[in-house]
Amino acid sequence: MLSKNIETALNNQIKIEAESSQIYLAMACWAEIKGLEGIANFMYKQSDEERDHMLKLVKFVNERGGHAQIYALKAPNVMFKSFKEMFQKLFEHEVFVSESINELVHVSLQEKDYATHNFLQWYVSEQIEEEAMARTILDKINLIGDDKGGLYLFDRDIQTLTVNTASTNGSE
Ligand SMILES: [Fe+2]
Ligand SMILES: [Fe+2]
Repeated sequence: MLSKNIETALNNQIKIEAESSQIYLAMACWAEIKGLEGIANFMYKQSDEERDHMLKLVKFVNERGGHAQIYALKAPNVMFKSFKEMFQKLFEHEVFVSESINELVHVSLQEKDYATHNFLQWYVSEQIEEEAMARTILDKINLIGDDKGGLYLFDRDIQTLTVNTASTNGSE
């Protein structure tokens, strides 16, 4: 059984993962209408992954005797000044999610809920990877600067980056 505190904390994380999915979906749309097909595909895939993160939590809560809550979501940003700003936002959002996972791990230890603590380790590793990926992307963007040819290559190469991440993650 989940304690009330843990159930509330996990439900809050369900909302955060659902919002992450919407945030990246909005980014995918922005990239798509700007003709940045590679970036759009990358964002669509990120959005799907966040939905998977959410579902994994939903099932865990329900299987452990809790009731997963499907809350109303905050509307995401739909416009961006540049693709650089968009990826900066993605990075900041992943840092925020990592902090929220850390807090959740902290609550699981306080509640002496070792099953939840164990379950959350997957999210801890996932956040390390996602933050690292966002950092790598920002480094590349800083190298490109305002070079249009660079953006063209970046839009093409970001798809390979997605494939690489997917293959290193195995089941991801
Ligand atoms: Fe996530
Ligand atoms: Fe994420």
